[in-house]
Amino acid sequence: MTGLGSEAMEAEFDTVAGWTEEAVRALGPEYAVPAGCRGSGSEGALRWLADRLELGPGTRMLDSGAGVGGPAGWLAAERGLRPFCAEPMASAVRASRRLFGLPSVVAIGQQLPFADDAVDAAWCLGVLCTTSDKAGALGELRRVLTDRGRLGLLVFVADRPLPPPLFVGDDPQPAPLPDGNEFPSEAELRGLLAEAGFALGETTDVDLGDSPAVWSERADAVAAEIARRHGNDPAFRQAEENSSRVGRLLSDGDLRAWLGVATAV
Ligand SMILES: C[S@@+](CC[C@H](N)C(=O)[O-])C[C@H]1O[C@@H](n2cnc3c(N)ncnc32)[C@H](O)[C@@H]1O
Repeated sequence: MTGLGSEAMEAEFDTVAGWTEEAVRALGPEYAVPAGCRGSGSEGALRWLADRLELGPGTRMLDSGAGVGGPAGWLAAERGLRPFCAEPMASAVRASRRLFGLPSVVAIGQQLPFADDAVDAAWCLGVLCTTSDKAGALGELRRVLTDRGRLGLLVFVADRPLPPPLFVGDDPQPAPLPDGNEFPSEAELRGLLAEAGFALGETTDVDLGDSPAVWSERADAVAAEIARRHGNDPAFRQAEENSSRVGRLLSDGDLRAWLGVATAV
């Protein structure tokens, strides 16, 4: 099981990816990176990871579960790399090619179309918490990384059971927990990394709201443009609900945004 295929996941990661590309085209290329970072929506998080992955212009770098390519586009602009992107949602793959000109392939993280030892570094941002087969995804990352290759992770972790679903207003249906999300605990994540052949190095928690004002303004402008164009579409409402539930769990302290770097051993 990859955890792919639910309607909410398709809405959030495929349909909205296409709409994001459309809105960025309407507003301008400077909107692409902030709007294209879904889940890793903090420049501080990208910088923290990039600083620890020993990246240089010649580094062969993979972004697994790259979404529309914002983080890889940021790396290309900031560190002079040309990362490879792999991502299961076709609209997102198209967006990362068109918005950032990045090599991008439709693939799930459990079946990466790369040879053994193909890359020196990889990152996987906000992905392990959306798939049930975390061991499969980490095993594939280990396979394609060289020995001593570096891995960066952003994972939403839940260290205790999430609160039960809430009833909202007079609605007889409870607002369910975010669909398609499978948050691990930090202990589980550490165990999975060790089993996959990674030695965990530095870790930290990150505040995803710490980006420069201009970054947030651009991300918000793209969100507003998408709402203006597609606000009445059921897929829009579903994606909004899902991401606002994650936001609520984060602000209530039920989830943490966890960053870690690991070495393939
Ligand atoms: C929260 S988004 C993060 C996207 C991107 N990494 C970023 O930070 O902007 C999660 C991404 O994981 C992708 N995804 C879901 N299941 C996956 C799997 N089994 N393998 C690889 N990617 C997956 C989704 O399609 C989506 O693009």
